[in-house]
Amino acid sequence: MKIVEVGLGERSYPIIVKTGLLDEIGTELQERKLAKRYIVIADDKVATIYFERLCNSLAGKGIKFELLTFPSGEESKNLATIADLSSSLAQYGVDRKDCLIALGGGVTGDITGFAAAIYMRGISFVQIPTTLLAQVDSSVGGKTGVDLPEGKNLVGSFYQPKAVFIDNSVLATLPSGELLNGLAEVIKYGVIYDRNFFELLANKQQQILHLDERSIEEVIVRCCSIKAAVVAADEKESNLRRILNYGHTLGHAVEAASNFSIPHGMAVAMGMVAANKIAVAKSLLSLHEAERIKNIIAGFGLPVAIPSELDRSLMKSYLKTDKKALAGKPFFVLPTCIGQVTITDDVTEELIDAAFN
Ligand code: NAD
Ligand code: GLY
Repeated sequence: MKIVEVGLGERSYPIIVKTGLLDEIGTELQERKLAKRYIVIADDKVATIYFERLCNSLAGKGIKFELLTFPSGEESKNLATIADLSSSLAQYGVDRKDCLIALGGGVTGDITGFAAAIYMRGISFVQIPTTLLAQVDSSVGGKTGVDLPEGKNLVGSFYQPKAVFIDNSVLATLPSGELLNGLAEVIKYGVIYDRNFFELLANKQQQILHLDERSIEEVIVRCCSIKAAVVAADEKESNLRRILNYGHTLGHAVEAASNFSIPHGMAVAMGMVAANKIAVAKSLLSLHEAERIKNIIAGFGLPVAIPSELDRSLMKSYLKTDKKALAGKPFFVLPTCIGQVTITDDVTEELIDAAFN
């Protein structure tokens, strides 16, 4: 078992990583005495595969719990689902002594966290992330929320969980495309923060792709440690936390221009390569380092080129309306070498055109 602490004063919490941890959640919760009753929230797919194991673990320790589900997928990440879940919580008589459990990927974590943040003005929740993306990124750091028809993640709140329980063995049932989504974020951490971690990824590529237990556990712990350090330094994304958006500014434009037919991880991979082109053109990054990053992205099976059929002017219009752009000016996280980045909005249209092509 490995424990990473997210240091946020009295709102600090542990991230516990262990193969097989799902079967020990009952013991963990009994020891931590977080609530008198737990409400598990899961999408229908994850509930079918994993609720029974969680149920056995909780029942084995005499812990009281209920289950609430919603249809799997980003389409469920909206205010209607929050309203439905909140009504169900009220009908179950859930109060501030109870605690929500998010069992699932980033969609479940974001929905559950947001419901926890606003139900009765705030009740506790814990995360049991089941996708690689959720295990290395979305379950840590307290960003919660839902989408609007006008855009993704437009309504939400910073609200930290009480604990994050990560069982890497659940990744065995994850579809390969979902694994790739998470791997793009994994590579991101190496480039923005930790050269040694980048080298580890380069050396252990095959073990990671085959979900070798020790390698994947190490990857998750290293990613969570980086994210915990960044969040502890800048919880509300006023400065340092923005580095987590490497590859995302351009990636979001790719995702949106494809009408979300290009999955998030693939778009971020393309966005990282495009950001590197800008960094090289601005003489911030050497061509050699840019090639190494591109090779590792391709080595993990992620795309490195933006499809030629995507409308470039549409992508540029999405860049300007990106919710993190200020006065229509997007910011870019650009590597200066592997392990370090700088943030700038000083990027000309010509450089953006060149990066997109
Ligand atoms: P997801 O939650 O939709 O999960 C992807 C699919 O995998 C779903 O169909 C789900 O049912 C299935 N699944 C989950 N675990 C499984 C398992 N172990 N075995 C088999 N199938 C499984 O998507 P995601 O990629 O985990 O998360 C994406 C969401 O996360 C987006 O909404 C994004 O905005 C959000 N996000 C949030 C943060 C944050 O900091 N809060 C960070 C990054 C992304
Ligand atoms: N995934 C970006 C963040 O948590 O800030």
